Amino acid sequence: MNIQTPKDLNGHASPTALHGTNEAMTSEKATDVAMQDTLLTPRFYTTDFNELDAINVENVRHDWDTLIGQMEADPNKGHFKKNADWDTVDWDGMEPALRAEFIDFLISSCTAEFSGCVLYKEMKRRGSNPDITQLFQLMARDEARHAGFINDALREAGIAVNLGFLTQQKKYTYFRPKFIYYATYLSEKIGYARYITIFRHLEKHPEHRFHPIFKWFEEWCNDEFSHGEAFALLMKTDPKLTESRQNRLWIKFFLTAVYGTMWVRDHQRPVFHEALGVDVTWYGMEVFRKTSEISKQIYPFTLDIDHPRFRKGLDKLQDANVQIAAGKRQRGVAGKIKQFIGTARAAAAFAVLYSIPVVHHERPASTMMEPAY
Ligand SMILES: [Fe+2]
Ligand SMILES: [Fe+2]
Repeated sequence: MNIQTPKDLNGHASPTALHGTNEAMTSEKATDVAMQDTLLTPRFYTTDFNELDAINVENVRHDWDTLIGQMEADPNKGHFKKNADWDTVDWDGMEPALRAEFIDFLISSCTAEFSGCVLYKEMKRRGSNPDITQLFQLMARDEARHAGFINDALREAGIAVNLGFLTQQKKYTYFRPKFIYYATYLSEKIGYARYITIFRHLEKHPEHRFHPIFKWFEEWCNDEFSHGEAFALLMKTDPKLTESRQNRLWIKFFLTAVYGTMWVRDHQRPVFHEALGVDVTWYGMEVFRKTSEISKQIYPFTLDIDHPRFRKGLDKLQDANVQIAAGKRQRGVAGKIKQFIGTARAAAAFAVLYSIPVVHHERPASTMMEPAY
C-alpha cells in the first residue's frame, strides 16, 4: 500500500494519513487494523487464571454481593439494540478525513471492548471459584454486547471486524493477575470517564452529534463503571496490592502509561474531535480529572495532573509519537533512525512524567461508588 502522508493542521499523523482516504476501508483492512499490536493499539491479554481463581472475596463480601446483584439485574439488557433513536447515517456523504478517523475510532473501540470480552470469558471458562466465574461471566456478557453493537455500526459503513478471526489469530500478551487488575481497573474507569464526558458534551451540543451511537453512551458507560467497581473490590481483597512500596510504584507506572497512551491516541484523531466540537486537550484533562477522582476509591494516590511538568511531559510524548509515526512511513535507514530517536524521546518523556511526585490522600472505608458524572 502506497499511502501519501498528509498531515493535519497540527502536524500530527492522523488515521487519515495512516490508512489513507482514497482507498476504501474494507472488513479485511479493518480486521488488519484490529490485529495490530503496538504500544497504542488495544491488545488481547492472558494471565495466570489459577491465581485469579483462588481469590477469596470474603473480606469484601457485602459490597461484592451488592455489586453482583446489580449486574445480575441486568439494567442494560435491552439497551444495545438499534431503535427509533438510531438516525440514518450518511456514510457516503461524510467528509473523508472524518470518516477515516471515525472508523478508526470505532475499530479501536470495538477491539478494546472485545479484548475485555475474550479475557473475561476465558476466566469464566477456566475457573471453578463461583464468585470469580460469576463476575467474569457477567462482565463478558456486557463486553460482548458492546463490541457487537460497535460492529453493527461499522456494518452500516460496509465494514465489520472479524471477531472470530481475532480471537484465534491476535497475539495474546501475558500479564500477571496483579497487572491485569491495575491495567483493567484503569481502562474500565477511564472508559467510563471518556464515554460520559462525550455524552454530557453532546447533551449540551446536539448539533455536533454526527452519529447516533453517541446517544447510547450513558447506559453503556454505566456497565464500564460497574466493571471498574469489580476490579476495585478484587484489589481490596489483598491490601498488599495497593499498599506495598513496590506495588505503589507499579500503580504509578500504570496510571502514567494509561494516561499517556490515551493522550497520544486521541491526539491522532483531530478531525474526529473537531466534528464533536471537543477540544482534544480539554477533553484529555477532563477525562484524567474524572478518572483520578474515581480512582481515589482504591489507589492511595493520584497523578499530579496539575503539575507544570505533567502537560509538558504529555506534549513531549505526543511529539515523540509523531516522530515515530513519521519514521515508520519513511522507509530505509533514515526512517529507522527517526523511529529510534522518537522511541528514545518517548522513553525520556515517560521518565519525566513518572518522576512527578504523586498526590496522596486518605481512602474511604468502602470502595463502592455510584456513577456521578
Ligand atoms: Fe465495554
Ligand atoms: Fe468494561
